Amino acid sequence: MDLTDRDIKKREELNDVHDQKSYRNPESPYLVGIINDVHQYHRFFVKAALEMKISFDVIDIHRNDWWDKLRAEDYDGFLIWPNGMRESLKSAYDSRVKMIVDYLKKPVYPDYLSIWLYENKIRGLDWLRVNEFPTIPTSVYYSKEEAMQHLKTNQLPVVFKTNLGASGKGVYIVKTESEFRKRVQQCFSVGLKSYGVSPYSESRGYAYIQKFIPGMEEWRMVRIGDAFFGHRKMADENSGKHSGTLLKGWEKPSEELLDLLYEVTERGGFRSMNVDMFRDHEGNIYINELHAVWGQSTEHLMIIDNIPGRYIRENGRWKFEEGSFVKGHSGIARIEYFLKQIGKSEKQLS
Ligand SMILES: Nc1ncnc2c1ncn2[C@@H]1O[C@H](COP(=O)(O)OP(=O)(O)O)[C@@H](O)[C@H]1O
Ligand SMILES: [Mg+2]
Repeated sequence: MDLTDRDIKKREELNDVHDQKSYRNPESPYLVGIINDVHQYHRFFVKAALEMKISFDVIDIHRNDWWDKLRAEDYDGFLIWPNGMRESLKSAYDSRVKMIVDYLKKPVYPDYLSIWLYENKIRGLDWLRVNEFPTIPTSVYYSKEEAMQHLKTNQLPVVFKTNLGASGKGVYIVKTESEFRKRVQQCFSVGLKSYGVSPYSESRGYAYIQKFIPGMEEWRMVRIGDAFFGHRKMADENSGKHSGTLLKGWEKPSEELLDLLYEVTERGGFRSMNVDMFRDHEGNIYINELHAVWGQSTEHLMIIDNIPGRYIRENGRWKFEEGSFVKGHSGIARIEYFLKQIGKSEKQLS
């Protein structure tokens, strides 16, 4: 059995609301569709909807009857926790969510652009560059010959990354020329491995090569609805990587970081977005990654001077509000925002 299939089985068993495929409350003003995630992260929407007493059905868009199921009821909208485990499953989000938006004409959360950008490092980089946001100097090659020339104009060390991958499992720091040649060769033959995603995942035919930023700080900056959060991600002492360590640095994010988070999310219309940023020794800030959904290992996403809370933006200024705003993997915060949006558009229509 493919390890990822075994992993899926295990996750299903651990999901305590796995059998809750539907819920109806006659008082609920909304009926939402919750898209099933093979990794079971959609359980945070299920749990939040139950707590909020919002009617829902869980719908699997990876089944052959996906379109019939989406149209079976007059859903007010769909909550989606996209999955980046393998390209084949991911492609269903890219194309079928677009069908929901364009042809079923129903709102989705997160929005389609966020989902389209999710777990696709090349796409994310392109979007950030096209929109003129600061990115780490990176080259993407679709030809081996071109990739082999990279060191003529760039210095070692460099970082190779797979397009799909998380927790540093598809990230390779390359220090020597011979290793560089070996990695390029690999990119255009068997492909780079991204441990943790399926071995059948497609990671060949391109080379994503990035400048190595020594000793940088990594910040996780988050927007959910109109609430903003930020904390440092601390590096693992052995691997030197920040991703996947779950170590948090509860420091106050600077206004510069918050402003950049605001600009990116305003530009994209993103209302469920994690913008991972690097800050180097000289204080330069780069955006590394965009994630519409992310693993949240803590009860809070921001703690300043021992006080958990969020920032909101009022007349161009940042205002800190104390409180617990992201319970249950931010499930309630996301649904509350989404329903508020739906409510608004209904008013505009009438
Ligand atoms: N350009 C870089 N320079 C230095 N370290 C990097 C660089 N890119 C990534 N890293 C390290 O590797 C980790 C994983 O890289 P990242 O791009 O976040 O991929 P993912 O989180 O998808 O695995 C980062 O958290 C960081 O610690
Ligand atoms: Mg990362």
